[in-house]
Amino acid sequence: PVEERVADLVARMTLEEKVMQLNQYTLGRNDNANNMADPVNDIPAQIGSLIYFSSNPGLRNRVQKKAMEQSRLGIPILFGYDVIHGYKTVYPISLAQACSWNPQLVQQACGVAAQEARMSGVDWTFSPMIDVARDGRWGRVAEGYGEDPYTNAVFAVASVKGYQGDNLAAADKVAACLKHYVGYGASEAGRDYVYTEISEQTLWDTYMPPYEAGVKAGAATLMSSFNDISGTPGTANRYILRDILKGKWKHDGFVVSDWGAIEQLRPQGVAKDKKDAAFKAFTAGVEMDMMNRSYDNNLGTLVKEGKVSKQLLDDAVKRVLGVKFRLGLFDRPYTPETNDKDRFLLPQSLAVAEKLAEESVVLLKNSNKTLPLSNASKIAVLGPLSKDKWHLLGSWRAQGNAEDVTTIYDALQKEFAGKAEILQAKGCDFDKADQSGFEEARSIAAQADAVIICLGEKATWSGENASRSSIALPKIQEDLVAEIKKLGKPVILLLSSGRPLELNRLEPLSDAILTMWHPGVPGGRPAVGVISGRVNPSGKLSMTFPYATGQIPIYYNHRQSARPHQGKYQDIPSTPLYDFGHGLSYTSFQYGDLKASALKVKPDGKITVEIPVTNTGDRDGLETVHWFINDPVSTISRPVKELRYFDKQLIKKGETRNFRFHVDIKKDLGFVNAKGEKYIEEGDYYVIVKDKKIKIEVSK
Ligand code: IFM
Repeated sequence: PVEERVADLVARMTLEEKVMQLNQYTLGRNDNANNMADPVNDIPAQIGSLIYFSSNPGLRNRVQKKAMEQSRLGIPILFGYDVIHGYKTVYPISLAQACSWNPQLVQQACGVAAQEARMSGVDWTFSPMIDVARDGRWGRVAEGYGEDPYTNAVFAVASVKGYQGDNLAAADKVAACLKHYVGYGASEAGRDYVYTEISEQTLWDTYMPPYEAGVKAGAATLMSSFNDISGTPGTANRYILRDILKGKWKHDGFVVSDWGAIEQLRPQGVAKDKKDAAFKAFTAGVEMDMMNRSYDNNLGTLVKEGKVSKQLLDDAVKRVLGVKFRLGLFDRPYTPETNDKDRFLLPQSLAVAEKLAEESVVLLKNSNKTLPLSNASKIAVLGPLSKDKWHLLGSWRAQGNAEDVTTIYDALQKEFAGKAEILQAKGCDFDKADQSGFEEARSIAAQADAVIICLGEKATWSGENASRSSIALPKIQEDLVAEIKKLGKPVILLLSSGRPLELNRLEPLSDAILTMWHPGVPGGRPAVGVISGRVNPSGKLSMTFPYATGQIPIYYNHRQSARPHQGKYQDIPSTPLYDFGHGLSYTSFQYGDLKASALKVKPDGKITVEIPVTNTGDRDGLETVHWFINDPVSTISRPVKELRYFDKQLIKKGETRNFRFHVDIKKDLGFVNAKGEKYIEEGDYYVIVKDKKIKIEVSK
């Protein structure tokens, strides 16, 4: 058993060997972030982990050989990397994945990423990011599953299962890392690395549920967060790391800091120097120091001085070694050196990415059935993204290559071959205030029956430390649309971004709007499939599109307020442009009445609520039903509604399908108190689907 092998090894390790297991440097990064004369030779043989920037298994094997043969006990190195939305087969960003409401598909996609990464020498991914985020200005909204805790929890479980499978030692699985524990998504004003203001109730209602779910699903590791929670940084937070994670949730893997986060306890004002920072982070429960040299230089001294107990050190080392054993690294330290073509972009991998990208496209507007485009014989495609490859990959593209991406223009050519001629002009750049391309765009659009304008964000506008003060598109992009609109042709906006956008000026100028987010290597193909009608869109928003940036933070599950119909802005509407869950289809669905197996139930009871949904349109379609609950009167004010379950099914034209929610009263209708304890109060609750609701009375 792993525990015995770990205990035996730890018993034979020196203090220095133990400390070295708790450090992570980098390998293969162009800028030699470790500052070493020779980044391969100078890597210490007994280092615990490396962030592996290369996709060549050979480099890993050379360094691993050194660890296996030149360290006294032959302990293998753990190689980690940011495999965020695919490794070589880059699939859509997580925010988009959540719009698919298809966790099975996301699990498969993470399985593809795991296979490509592990076969390239990566044992551990710093993913999934499950930080609930309600501020679109924050660049990292791209990396999480949106504004809702339950959605993040479901996709946390799906991705952990996809990455890790049932057996971490399999040649195509990697260890997952839930990040950034916890509350990072609440970064104030959408700026990265700053403070957060999270009440204990909100911590438990909003930010903790995805982590609890991910830990229960068996995630091997977690990454601590940069932000503070009530003044104590995530990286020094004994309550969330030791009391909750290791104590209450019994997590037996390890916690890695974020890059440099231990030393950053100093500017955060809770540590006076690196040694103090190492003490605070380590005793709080961070076992591995990412790229900071706080542990390798100080932990040994802290143990010798008796400030850190040997027992605590051993516990940390056992956690790290436990993950290495579970990954099978002691028995299989090396990565077979296969050809790239045998592990990357395999047809079945691309098919998963394609399907996920198709289901992630959200049709936001479609007036007068502008889409699908069936009768156009000339289609103009304009905008800075019309022939782009690079930006469609999005942020954190791991080893993804722009050459593998299909442009929107190429996708249109193929999709409409023999049916319509495709004319293209860029019109303008992303943000350069230069209208010199407008004339060409206008003359091309004038010849066409319909105009697709491809607008959006550069890949670098979202991701880490990529916040924006406004989530509107640059004025030049809006001006291009206004100019083309004058021609009176149907205008279709095809958007690609890493966050929700402010579209209030563009919305009246367009007949149809769809977003494909940053789709990865499938590029323009899935969205073009929606435009042609080959794909019936089924994506629904995982994050609210505000009417204007000034409404932020705006999210569907806010608490009930004193004057629900007041509290408005004088200059803009107070409702969003597109709600959480919004997304159109080419068919129509009619929802019947909600029925519950019982309307009165005990607090420990269970009931089933169901609703029939009929496809009343003229083509088959996928429909996601979102099940919300509301606790209208409680000891504390509860949200207007909270998502508790969702289900996506294919409904053939003319067919009716029943959607069912099996309600566990305490779990689904109850809520956590400020200590994270779940309980249920007696009283009335509502189960809500769209505009229908049913009252459930809970009493002993
Ligand atoms: O995994 C990331 C983290 O999300 C942000 N800082 C750097 C880490 C390693 O690259």
